[in-house]
Amino acid sequence: MLTRVTHLWNVDPVHPLRDELQPAADLLRVGGLVAFPTETVYGLGADALSAAAVARIFQAKGRPQDNPLIVHVSSLEMAYSLMGQSDERPILDILAAAFWPGPLTLVVTRNHRIGDQVTAGLGTVGLRMPSHPVALALIDELERPIAAPSANRSGRPSPTMPQHVMADLNGRIEGIVSAGACSVGVESTVLDITEWPPVLLRPGGATPEEISGVLGTEVVVDRHVHVPVTDPEATQVRSPGMKYRHYAPSTPLILVEASAFTRERLRDLIAIQQSQGNRVGILATDEADVASLDLPVVRMGSRARPDQIAANLFSALRHVDRTDVDVVLVEGIDDRGVGLAVMNRLRRAAGRRIG
Ligand code: TXA
Ligand code: MG
Repeated sequence: MLTRVTHLWNVDPVHPLRDELQPAADLLRVGGLVAFPTETVYGLGADALSAAAVARIFQAKGRPQDNPLIVHVSSLEMAYSLMGQSDERPILDILAAAFWPGPLTLVVTRNHRIGDQVTAGLGTVGLRMPSHPVALALIDELERPIAAPSANRSGRPSPTMPQHVMADLNGRIEGIVSAGACSVGVESTVLDITEWPPVLLRPGGATPEEISGVLGTEVVVDRHVHVPVTDPEATQVRSPGMKYRHYAPSTPLILVEASAFTRERLRDLIAIQQSQGNRVGILATDEADVASLDLPVVRMGSRARPDQIAANLFSALRHVDRTDVDVVLVEGIDDRGVGLAVMNRLRRAAGRRIG
């Protein structure tokens, strides 16, 4: 791919000005690729109604062609304008009232306005109204929906800071709207509402407990949420994104589930790695008693605040590559609430799991 100049526009994260967003919207209007902040992670945006622009997203990220994109909207009307089946509307309305704008993507039947490039040929489309003021203002300014995957090179941890986007995509996209760190830190929850009860395809910022509470019925959690598929040839998955290894730093990770993360177990694992000549690092919660091990430690936040761990997770995974180690032992956390999203990402990032 040709190298291009990547513009960087600094905008106010809370009160973005129209003028500040104009150049980014102008580039999107002519088929350009522009990264922008959402409350979950930075997205790599293109005009969702332009097949040519959307095709370029796949190129810039090195994304597998069969993995569909989420379409971001700034109003309910914009969401309706892309939907096919009207009997999905009541359920969308209920969930949108509770979660939009926010970290919940709803998979619905699409209509002809959404092309095959966006959905990778599926008859459904994932719709989301992000809550970040900059994302909403950019969609408003463009007056069209924006298709956007996370703004990382495919397989890498998702970007929660403009620097992460720069590191992965500088020279491959037209611009980055820069507005500081993302608050949620893990991607949106993907919920398929084409069936009843709805099916959770990817855990994220909106928890299954919260969704079930709003619907008054338990959502079905797809089994691949807990047991990652590692075979890209797998055809049985409901959401193509499930089958790709993802979120991974270059340094191999060994995930030690919360129940197995004991001092004795840790000492054994470290001894095994060191006997193979590997330098070992640790990625752990603030509470983990690992300081005396005399190994490089990256902290990800307190066990009592899974929301903070979620917010730090991808930065911490990128940080791991800057520590001089050959393998990292990662402490797992409880998978309730947003912990389910954290553990889903860690299970998919790790080459091995213990416990
Ligand atoms: O928080 C987020 O969702 C971020 C920000 C930028 O909005 N976006 C994001 O996009 O994480 P991406 O492309 O990295 O992940 C989208 C996920 C993939 O796992 C994809 O397979 C799934 O959503 N998905 C999208 N459309 C789908 C559809 N029609 N049916 C099933 N799964 C779908
Ligand atoms: Mg992604």
